[in-house]
Amino acid sequence: MKSAIYEEKFRPQFHFTPEANWMNDPNGMVYYEGEYHLFYQYHPGGTTWGPMHWGHAISKDLIHWEHLPAALEPDEHGFIFSGSAVVDWKDSSGLFTGGSGLVALFTHHDTNPETQEVRQRQSIAYSLDKGRNWIKYEGNPVLIEKQIIDFRDPKVIWHEESQRWVMVLAAGDHARFYNSPDLKSWSFTGEFGLSDGSHDGVWECPDLFELSVEGAPGRKQWVLIISIGDHPDHPEGSRTQYFVGDFDGRTFTNSNSPETVLWVDHGRDNYAGVTWSDIPEEDGRRIFLGWMSNWKYANFTPTVTWRSAMTIPRVLSLINHEEGVRLVQRPIDELQHLRLSKQYWEELHVAPEKPFSSGKVGELLEVRLEFEMDDAKLVGLKLKSSMGEETLVGYDVRASLLFIDRLASGQVDFHQQFACRHEAPLQLDNGRVSLHLFLDNSSVEVFANDGKVVMTDLIFPASGGKELELFAEAGTAKIVSLTIDHLNSIYSNLKSKSL
Ligand code: FRU
Repeated sequence: MKSAIYEEKFRPQFHFTPEANWMNDPNGMVYYEGEYHLFYQYHPGGTTWGPMHWGHAISKDLIHWEHLPAALEPDEHGFIFSGSAVVDWKDSSGLFTGGSGLVALFTHHDTNPETQEVRQRQSIAYSLDKGRNWIKYEGNPVLIEKQIIDFRDPKVIWHEESQRWVMVLAAGDHARFYNSPDLKSWSFTGEFGLSDGSHDGVWECPDLFELSVEGAPGRKQWVLIISIGDHPDHPEGSRTQYFVGDFDGRTFTNSNSPETVLWVDHGRDNYAGVTWSDIPEEDGRRIFLGWMSNWKYANFTPTVTWRSAMTIPRVLSLINHEEGVRLVQRPIDELQHLRLSKQYWEELHVAPEKPFSSGKVGELLEVRLEFEMDDAKLVGLKLKSSMGEETLVGYDVRASLLFIDRLASGQVDFHQQFACRHEAPLQLDNGRVSLHLFLDNSSVEVFANDGKVVMTDLIFPASGGKELELFAEAGTAKIVSLTIDHLNSIYSNLKSKSL
């Protein structure tokens, strides 16, 4: 008998997953009439990548999701690759008889029958019923650049100053900008990035938005997010970088030197992330979510009926760091509604011969930990399963590095580059490190020093209760406080019904 989805091995309990089959990038994230829409790259015919559709789910709180039928299916122009969605509030497109409605903008991917070369062109679809049904525009594709082969993942925003829609596209090794009065006819306005940032892989999935700088009243900066694809030369696989700068409605200028590389997430499993459009001004948040996998091994992860999850949604902000304006990420407050019960400790002293154990805790955990190094060289937390597997999250003070070690985290043999220990630079904050972690059945998300450094990793440990151990190496450390919140499953209503 088919088990309910919330009972399946490794099925995340508070992260978005498709009910069945393959998922990759989040697409078309938009808020409209009380509903957050999440579309996603979806292959309904199997658990590996294939002919791409847009899967669809809606939520009122970004935590509990209702699955809807696939929104867009391949057609005579090809597969439906990644893209975005906007609310056309003033019917600039003329598709909504004077009212408002949703427009999705995406890449049609096929093979040119004349040249047999890959062809990527931009198209649109619209919905007259709050995203339940979609009509492909009869004039598709709406944007063609014959010379550019990798030309995809349109992100569209309304640019208030120029009173134009702006589309940013990934074009192999740079980003291209177009504008439009009506979402249907597009004109090229500029390009960015040929010699900026990381070019370790092909550029994909851009996003573009303006944010206020915290603590600097009136100061705003633009952020351009660019994901970069997997490349065999780089063990990190697919990753997401960002740029901080200005956008004048036509092109982006980088505030940092071209060689500066800024990562959204230093973990291995946060790719193709973008932000929601049209979140009301009263809310004002810029909310980001990524695909929690990596093209290096995404097709091989050890799940059976479905493959891949999304990260938890995160609020993006800018802060003024010594080195310049930088992005910080914080978990959305809505996640606090999942808290069930709390354990709290303070003033714990750990030493090599005296680790601290939480005893048995559940599997769905939010952990907040603050420590001072004293004379320890390394301090961290081990998530231990009953099978002796352990995932380490720690700080190496000599190297000023935060790390995740998933070498012995559970099932790792499905791909030779999955098992790894990897690091991110992190400075002490007033002599302390604070870690905010979310642990689900098959993932670890670490927000360090109030979201200045973030690491997201998949792990596949044995199911059942876990134990948390705090440890120190080569000296003692002071754990200022440790809070463990036991989290509810987003399927708890379904579980109680079936009892
Ligand atoms: C990124 C990506 C996109 C593309 C989609 C295809 O993960 O390669 O560039 O549109 O996936 O599924």
